[in-house]
Amino acid sequence: MECQGLFRLLFELCFVSGFMLSAVAAGGSVGINYGRVANNLPSAVKVVTLLKKQGIDKVKIYDSDPAVLQALSGSGISVVIGLPNEQLFATARRQSAAEEWVSKNVAKYLPNTKITTIAVGNEVFVDPHNTTRYLITAMQNVHSALVMYKIDDKVKVSSPIALSALQTSYPSSAGVFKQDLAEVVMKPMLEFLRQTGSYLMVNAYPFFAYKDNADVISLDYALFKPNAGVVDSGSGLQYTNLLDAQLDAVNAAMAALKYGDVRTVVTETGWPSKGDENETGASLANAAAYNSNLVRRVLSGKGTPLRPQTPLEVYLFALFNENKKNGPTSERNYGLFFPDEEKVYNVPLLMAKSGDDHKGSSPPVDVGSAAGGQSWCVASEEASEDQLQAALDYACGEGGADCKEIQPGASCYDPDTLKAHASFAFNSYYQKNARTTGTCDFHGAAYVVSQLPKFGKCALPTGF
Ligand SMILES: *[C@@H]1O[C@H](CO)[C@@H](O)[C@H](O)[C@H]1NC(C)=O
Ligand SMILES: *[C@@H]1O[C@H](CO)[C@@H](O)[C@H](O)[C@H]1NC(C)=O
Repeated sequence: MECQGLFRLLFELCFVSGFMLSAVAAGGSVGINYGRVANNLPSAVKVVTLLKKQGIDKVKIYDSDPAVLQALSGSGISVVIGLPNEQLFATARRQSAAEEWVSKNVAKYLPNTKITTIAVGNEVFVDPHNTTRYLITAMQNVHSALVMYKIDDKVKVSSPIALSALQTSYPSSAGVFKQDLAEVVMKPMLEFLRQTGSYLMVNAYPFFAYKDNADVISLDYALFKPNAGVVDSGSGLQYTNLLDAQLDAVNAAMAALKYGDVRTVVTETGWPSKGDENETGASLANAAAYNSNLVRRVLSGKGTPLRPQTPLEVYLFALFNENKKNGPTSERNYGLFFPDEEKVYNVPLLMAKSGDDHKGSSPPVDVGSAAGGQSWCVASEEASEDQLQAALDYACGEGGADCKEIQPGASCYDPDTLKAHASFAFNSYYQKNARTTGTCDFHGAAYVVSQLPKFGKCALPTGF
């Protein structure tokens, strides 16, 4: 909806190429939720083609639809499938039901369809049908079935929780689970996850927190834009974005139960591109900013303040706008794509093919040696036009390089070559990111130099 000013300029000028860049920095991974509560989506086969075109190699679905699992066969895309809440009771009641389900929905498709995890139920604690009491037994039965089929080393079992499972989430260090869940459900679940080498699935939406508290939460903080940050009064840790704070509230709640060692994966996060009037913050520009900056933040490889060494694993919500979802307008507008496969807005997905896919062609440059003094980031001689264009699009994305100066008529437009513009953008991005490791890579399209490069009459920004 809103697409104005500088954002609009960058949006139109910098996102001209549909080409998506692969992983930039080591660490972190980004997948996407392929929800299908809609009557106008493309066929599963077409969707798999779309995923591959975008470089997306991790997908999560909410069921075990045969057409989808068949279409994913041989694609190399890994998939999290779902056992719906309605089946928790039956799965918990009889081990044989779990075995049948695993046989029909998992074993049958392996290994051609790369099923990596089964989400047993979804946000079960807020299911109005009170299925929470069946959850742990259902998870155990599904795991036993995987053991029986000897696929428990390939397929993990978990269950996505909503942030509403927390009693307290602010400050993050005070995070605890609700009393009626902590001992009865969370403890046995975390014990199960630890013993089976699995992880906790968390659905986290800074949008909800912002929408309801826009008077006290800054939009920049919610959208990963530069902001003053928030210091956690308990831990003294500094938070620069709301998602990190939300995740650390969960991490703190796990640690309070002595399960701080269990991994977490963000199985859903997103921002709607449209909403009702009372849904503060729902807009195209904000959705584009949230998702672009999120991808960038994840691929930086940084963990949260509480778990700084653990890169984030995140599944965006969602692939498509879903027209049959109930609730406010926002519910039908979380998609990155319209059903006709057109983009709702542009997100350089940079899909993390395991995050370290550096078959790039940059000459060997010792970044360390340049880091002490001045250094600049420039386009590689060996990068192809496609590579440069994709990297340029990425660098100029929301919150990235300052690309105003290379627009027609601006001071750094000349020399008007792709390589020069790319160098300008790469360098701006590099300097803005404090010249940290990984911010001058662009999948091998760029490299660091310690001599001020020639760039026509325009002075390359030096940052420091
Ligand atoms: C769910 O549980 C609550 C409280 O435990 C109870 O009040 C409610 O009637 C139950 N609903 C169903 C559908 O069983
Ligand atoms: C928000 O607006 C929608 C549409 O106008 C309305 O149906 C809904 O009840 C409102 N919600 C709240 C919490 O006021």
